[in-house]
Amino acid sequence: MMKMLVIGIALLMIFGVGSVIASTTCIECHTKISPGQVNDWKVSKHAENDITCSVCHGEEHQTAEDYKKAVLPDESVCADCHQEQFDSFSAGKHNFGWTVLNAIPATHFAPDELIEGGRGCGGCHNMGIKTEEQKQDQLAKGYRYQNNSCDECHTRHAFSVTEARDPHACQQCHMGYDHPQWEMWSSSKHGERYFAKLAGNLPEGAAAPTCQHCHLQDGTHENRTAWGFLGVRLPLPEDPQAAADRVTILKALGVLNPETGEPTAILDAVKAVDMARLDEASWQKERDKMLKVCSECHSAAYAKEQLDMGDSILTKADRLMAEAIETVAGLYKDGIIKKPESYPFNYPFILALMHTNGTNWDENLDSLSYIDQVLLQMYFKHRMRAYQGFFHVNPDYAYWYGWNMMTQDLGEIKHLAKSMRADHAAGN
Ligand code: HEC
Ligand code: HEC
Ligand code: HEC
Ligand code: HEC
Ligand code: HEC
Ligand code: HEC
Ligand code: HEC
Ligand code: HEC
Repeated sequence: MMKMLVIGIALLMIFGVGSVIASTTCIECHTKISPGQVNDWKVSKHAENDITCSVCHGEEHQTAEDYKKAVLPDESVCADCHQEQFDSFSAGKHNFGWTVLNAIPATHFAPDELIEGGRGCGGCHNMGIKTEEQKQDQLAKGYRYQNNSCDECHTRHAFSVTEARDPHACQQCHMGYDHPQWEMWSSSKHGERYFAKLAGNLPEGAAAPTCQHCHLQDGTHENRTAWGFLGVRLPLPEDPQAAADRVTILKALGVLNPETGEPTAILDAVKAVDMARLDEASWQKERDKMLKVCSECHSAAYAKEQLDMGDSILTKADRLMAEAIETVAGLYKDGIIKKPESYPFNYPFILALMHTNGTNWDENLDSLSYIDQVLLQMYFKHRMRAYQGFFHVNPDYAYWYGWNMMTQDLGEIKHLAKSMRADHAAGN
């Protein structure tokens, strides 16, 4: 017993004291070369608790020359001390960000700087614990960073909880073209209240729901919504027109074979990354969670009516969307648009993001068809806004930037189809 204790103390002296010395040298040298970074660490809870540089980066790197020996810590390093957050993060959709990105054909035709390099798609989809294969793939392309998802909301090296509670922490990614949640929320009454409160123009106790309040309740890191990003789900609706419209959209997503109506391999991919709710129970579970949140501040009946209207706007938006897809599909069928090699079927494919006839982005420059681009825009930019704007209580996004623009896209598609058919008939 005594012997064990002595060995224990001896080990502690060797490793414990060793790491203190190592950290002192890290801080000394880095105070000269990257003072802002050291300062950030100094104001963190980690510094207060002696979680020094070498706890996360190891001790192998000691000089200015050998810096590539430093470990760039992935999420498992954080999990050593924050298992609960790691586990709930792993169970949520953020954990699929990187995998989903790499499942999209267009990703592999985009310049690497915009993927592994961490700007463009990769700047926002650097979310999710990477597999060993994904890490090796990234390294093989010459990219060493982007190994950690946790610093996407509590940025290094302050790793602050209050920063992550601020809705601005979500802004970099939840903005823009196809998911302007920041713009929608911040200019809704919910967001307006948050900013009024921040400026001291509402009492401290006033209610002002943030992104985190509605989506990451009670400290959970597990995020998922009922409709999700694609705005499709199973089972099909009972109304025959609504069901037919959703089937048309599923065909254009490549999830159903346009000829046979049978599920394709893309459906397996959608399942594997939890992209859509594929049965009633899993959809209802998320919806019930959200209704509970709204009911903190609104009457339950009011909240339910609001969310039901969101569902019905999506159904109406899908009528416009299906009409547009069918118009373009007719051009494929009649040989007026030629199927790009990479398309799974002779049918519009909205996940393609661009036509791909080559293996590099620059081989595809002359294969873009304008009417397909209008169709993609209708789906990704305007249909998204129509229903996401509704759910985020934003009148202008729901109507002018969403619904209204969808009707414009549809008009343009019909017009283009007509003149393409006329050109084709005239032998042009
Ligand atoms: C003698 C000075 C010196 C010491 C001591 C030192 N570093 Fe560095 N470190 C550097 C330099 C120089 C770089 C490279 C900076 C650049 O990219 O220009 C670097 C880079 C790093 C990087 C980034 C690695 C990368 O791939 O970009 C990490 C992480 C790091 N140091 C952590 C540590 C830790 C932890 C310690 C202590 C165990 C430590 N450093 C000790 C000088 C030092
Ligand atoms: C709690 C863990 C943790 C601690 C403690 C920590 N780091 Fe880091 N550090 C990270 C993470 C995470 C990254 C990002 C890794 C990536 O992107 O692949 C990082 C990246 C870096 C980088 C390279 C990227 C950049 O922004 O320059 C340097 C240099 C660095 N750390 C230095 C330090 C120094 C010096 C200390 C101590 C003062 C320190 N770190 C303490 C987690 C930590
Ligand atoms: C060796 C243990 C250890 C490791 C590794 C570690 N942390 Fe921590 N972390 C702590 C301790 C201790 C605290 C302070 C807890 C407290 O104050 O209740 C803390 C606090 C935090 C907080 C809350 C800060 C606040 O403002 O209250 C965040 C966020 C955090 N860590 C994130 C991370 C991330 C991200 C990583 C990985 C890059 C990481 N930690 C790695 C031990 C660790
Ligand atoms: C500005 C940040 C940002 C950029 C850039 C970005 N994404 Fe996304 N992406 C997101 C966010 C945020 C979501 C989730 C949006 C939602 O649910 O409304 C998302 C969702 C997705 C999804 C659906 C995931 C799911 O399971 O529902 C796919 C697929 C996707 N993005 C692919 C891409 C591709 C391919 C690119 C580059 C061409 C790209 N993204 C560029 C932030 C971004
Ligand atoms: C999408 C943004 C986001 C990401 C990514 C994220 N966090 Fe958090 N984290 C939060 C929010 C928001 C809170 C505050 C929760 C609360 O108190 O309601 C938080 C709180 C924490 C805390 C403080 C818990 C406490 O009770 O004080 C720790 C520790 C933490 N996160 C660790 C992690 C780790 C580890 C990862 C990566 C596996 C991670 N976070 C990734 C948003 C995020
Ligand atoms: C008042 C509660 C509330 C707030 C605040 C809120 N959301 Fe949402 N969010 C919702 C509802 C409701 C849905 C739709 C849920 C469903 O599908 O049933 C949703 C859906 C989403 C989705 C899935 C795609 C979509 O837009 O329908 C994402 C991503 C999202 N919100 C992110 C955010 C971000 C980021 C913020 C802050 C900028 C935010 N939300 C603020 C309630 C809220
Ligand atoms: C670094 C970029 C990034 C940041 C920061 C970020 N997210 Fe996300 N978020 C994503 C991506 C990418 C996805 C889609 C991941 C997937 O499904 O594969 C996503 C998905 C979501 C979803 C799931 C939507 C669905 O399909 O059901 C919600 C909800 C969400 N985020 C909320 C938040 C909130 C709240 C914050 C801020 C606390 C936040 N996110 C911060 C990139 C980010
Ligand atoms: C933390 C409290 C809180 C939560 C949670 C919350 N709201 Fe609100 N909501 C408010 C407040 C306060 C207002 C402003 C009331 C006003 O306009 O007089 C508001 C306004 C609204 C409005 C606009 C009402 C109007 O008269 O213009 C709608 C619609 C709405 N909320 C729906 C929802 C839905 C749906 C949810 C759940 C997804 C939700 N809210 C969650 C507090 C909340």
